[in-house]
Amino acid sequence: SAAEKGGYDYFMLKEIAEQPKAVADTLLGRIDGSGSLTLDEVRIPPGVLREIDKVVIVACGTAFHAGMIAKYAIEHWTRLPCEVELASEFRYRDPILDAQTLVIAISQSGETMDTLMALRHAREQGSKVLAICNTNGSTIPRESDAVLYTHAGPEVAVASTKAFLTQLVACYLVALYLGQVRGTKGADEIRALIRDLSSIAGAVERVLGTMEPVRELARTLASKRTVLFLGRHVGYPVALEGALKLKELAYMHAEGFAAGELKHGPIALIEEDLPVVVVVPSPRGRSVLHDKIVSNIQEIRARGARTIVIAEEGDEAVVPYADHLVRIPATPTLLQPLVATVPLQVFACELATARGNDVDQPRNLAKSVTVE
Ligand code: AGP
Repeated sequence: SAAEKGGYDYFMLKEIAEQPKAVADTLLGRIDGSGSLTLDEVRIPPGVLREIDKVVIVACGTAFHAGMIAKYAIEHWTRLPCEVELASEFRYRDPILDAQTLVIAISQSGETMDTLMALRHAREQGSKVLAICNTNGSTIPRESDAVLYTHAGPEVAVASTKAFLTQLVACYLVALYLGQVRGTKGADEIRALIRDLSSIAGAVERVLGTMEPVRELARTLASKRTVLFLGRHVGYPVALEGALKLKELAYMHAEGFAAGELKHGPIALIEEDLPVVVVVPSPRGRSVLHDKIVSNIQEIRARGARTIVIAEEGDEAVVPYADHLVRIPATPTLLQPLVATVPLQVFACELATARGNDVDQPRNLAKSVTVE
């Protein structure tokens, strides 16, 4: 009913709007008065976490994209090697797992069969499994050694939005917790990173306040056949997520690429007026990557692409090459996905609506996939 949707036409719109609160709620109670982490709810003893020598993340779809992003944070902050694998592929390749492996299973519903089978396989090999899940008491957390719940609240729309952002927050918390327990991150550093994380809810709120031009643009692209998405570093999984949203909602051909791969093939796809969304890394952080992506934008535009550029406020280098410029607040590099994904959600939702699709119930899809 309209009341359930909080006055929005679709649950998806409501859930996109709830993201600042979902992000803030996922941090709530997990940071103490002094600004350090208190994750006692992760009931894997610190002694066990200190013995871990590898992290493996398993998940599907949007949750898999959260895992791809988490890998950057985990490796950077803990120096533990981290693999990310599609849950549906995982057990079939006889992965190397033992008691020193921490497996993280990410799932909004907690009922995804592929993810469940992957975690069962991991536990059979003696690995510890930590679930990151949005649904209390669901199967995946029940069968895991420990769980960190995301506090997104119920997600009804088939396309995952607020669950994704909270999965990222939960992954960052786990990464910092591992850093804290294992001593690879000092208390001051952790406090600073937590402060950055705590500012994200406000940043997401600001992005949501500037989405009208994105909606307008999406409507003008409703009759297009293809949209490409490019990103680098943590922006690469964001590009994949933007493409997935568009596929599932607008039933359009959409593909995400790592921008550095363009020259190895995908650039052949660029043609006159093809919309290409580019997620631009911060010019402050890894500025080498920023400069490389700016030349990618130049290259595709020279070949006729219509460039839709998502870039940090104050990034002037992109201006000459952006047919459409979407500004996002400046954040530390690893946290950029939390703000950069939001315009892509709004874009897909609006484009799908313009095509006459029901964004809450896209064809052929179910909210949770309980078959393998
Ligand atoms: C996201 O928009 C999708 N509908 C889908 O990819 C989903 O993320 C995937 O099926 C995993 O679901 P889960 O998080 O409930 O395990």
